[in-house]
Amino acid sequence: MQDSSTVKIRQARISDVEDLVRVDIAQYSDMTADFAENSNISAMFARRISNTPGWFWVALVDGRIEGLLSTCPTTHSPEGFVSWEKCTNNGTLDGIFDERADFLYGVALTVTAKGGAAGVTKALLAAGLARFFSSEKRTLYLSGRMPGYHKVADEVSPQEYYDAQVTVRGQRVARDPQVRMYERLGFRRAGLVPGGFAVDHESAGYGVLLTMENPFREGVRPEMLNAMCERIAKQDDGPAWLTALS
Ligand SMILES: CC(C)(COP(=O)(O)OP(=O)(O)OC[C@H]1O[C@@H](n2cnc3c(N)ncnc32)[C@H](O)[C@@H]1OP(=O)(O)O)[C@@H](O)C(=O)NCCC(=O)NCCS
Repeated sequence: MQDSSTVKIRQARISDVEDLVRVDIAQYSDMTADFAENSNISAMFARRISNTPGWFWVALVDGRIEGLLSTCPTTHSPEGFVSWEKCTNNGTLDGIFDERADFLYGVALTVTAKGGAAGVTKALLAAGLARFFSSEKRTLYLSGRMPGYHKVADEVSPQEYYDAQVTVRGQRVARDPQVRMYERLGFRRAGLVPGGFAVDHESAGYGVLLTMENPFREGVRPEMLNAMCERIAKQDDGPAWLTALS
């Protein structure tokens, strides 16, 4: 249930760094601390903001930053993905950003509990996906997490957990809620990557490689628009961003 707060989306600025660190710590807590042992988080965000003009959004709820979505055009392909750390140059994106590249990498989506309640996740995703669809980029990809894995790590292997399905509202879907979230948005799973996000102990350090092709890169195809409009009209379980954009 969404509350009645005012949500505003804009590009990140250098003066936001302190707020971005606060949002990161609110969601990652001890993982931020582990990462910070080898890295300066404030400097990392500052480098990232200046490296990705036009591709880093923040969400303000009643004037305060409660979420971020950071992406990066890159020549690094999903097939060559090794880890978040490598793909982002330890989060800084130094030497990674290439505005003309075919690929768009999803660096981070982080939203506080307050932001989640105000509908910030959908608003950020709508802004980022609209930018992706209207760009010439071919593929959007990201290394997602399996934040539910640590609760059952004694019983199943990461691969078994990744492969497992559960029934939700009559549909067979991924066992992990975050993998479900991305699949509902239209991402496809491309594999489980050991060491894909080393500090993420909830996912045992594994990354879930998720990809989405840009359906509009070659121009809008009428049958695709029709199919999307039908899904919106039916109000079924179509991708959440369609609802956010409509
Ligand atoms: C991912 C994130 C932005 C979602 O925020 P939110 O909108 O407040 O999240 P919600 O709790 O409403 O979750 C949205 C959906 O995703 C699922 N989900 C996403 N991340 C989840 C997590 N860490 N734990 C449990 N569920 C999660 C929820 O189950 C929910 O699915 P549902 O609608 O079927 O119930 C937020 O949890 C976050 O910042 N997490 C830490 C950073 C992260 O994992 N980012 C994504 C990896 S790139």
